[in-house]
Amino acid sequence: MAEPGRSCPRHYRYSPPVFARPADIKAQSLYVVGGLYGNPFALETVLDLARREDAMLVFNGDFNWFDADPAGFRAINETVLQRAALRGNVETELAGEDAGAGCGCGYPEWVGDAEVERSNRILERLRETARGHTDLRARLGDLPMHLVAEVGGLRVGIVHGDAESLAGWQFSQEALREHPERARELLAGSGVDVFACTHTCLPVMQDFATPRGTALIVNNGAAGMPNFRDTHFGLATRIASTPSAQALYGVRLGAAVVEAVPVRYDYEAWMARFDRVWPAGSAAALSYRKRIASGPGYAVEQAVRTGAFSRAA
Ligand SMILES: [Fe+2]
Repeated sequence: MAEPGRSCPRHYRYSPPVFARPADIKAQSLYVVGGLYGNPFALETVLDLARREDAMLVFNGDFNWFDADPAGFRAINETVLQRAALRGNVETELAGEDAGAGCGCGYPEWVGDAEVERSNRILERLRETARGHTDLRARLGDLPMHLVAEVGGLRVGIVHGDAESLAGWQFSQEALREHPERARELLAGSGVDVFACTHTCLPVMQDFATPRGTALIVNNGAAGMPNFRDTHFGLATRIASTPSAQALYGVRLGAAVVEAVPVRYDYEAWMARFDRVWPAGSAAALSYRKRIASGPGYAVEQAVRTGAFSRAA
């Protein structure tokens, strides 16, 4: 048995052909919002982005994480659950009582033991909060693990992890660099043009030549945390028939564009809220405060692996 936080529970798994089905949703313009991590200010921003262009929102999991305060937990979930949503490993583990799965992250070997152990502690505290909200807990457990969307003629597989697992890491920037052939196989086996995913903390947009033409994997990293060095904004994936003036980078695929759009939330307010819920020395402060304050050691140029346009600067 793998230790808690390292394992990928059996019920997390599905197979790539499951995506070869009629679309569950159709939209002109769609935002895929992964990794909100309980940031209510980022949630406000994505709601506003979508409202401005009458776009559809899909929250593809881990919208909970730092919202261990009861009022924050209820507010995030009541709002998100009014939209289309998938459960990530966090929501799945919050809905259940499987202490052996830890945070359900399925962390690979490049993530250290201390960080995995802290993630398990964050999940335990969050689950304690969730126990006071049995109605929300049940709704989280009922969410699907994947959706198929049709946008501008593109078939889009929306997942939390990868094409085989809710907590899979095959669409992480690390795995896409080391084993692109595996991702190409998964795209070909699923019959989608785009996989929109999150879960692995860092964003990436990478294209692939498949027998059906160019296909794309787009990982938004986190909507609720900074994704690049010395920045203060999250990222969401936007798929639409016309480009957004706000996109940081993106690519045209057939009649549609796939873009990374900054989620510019109230940074000061979020820092203050985070510090109140997770004070210095807490598991979340040790693992995430530095990233929330100034971003990870990762650059836009590392995320863009396409013939994409980029407004990165
Ligand atoms: Fe996740």
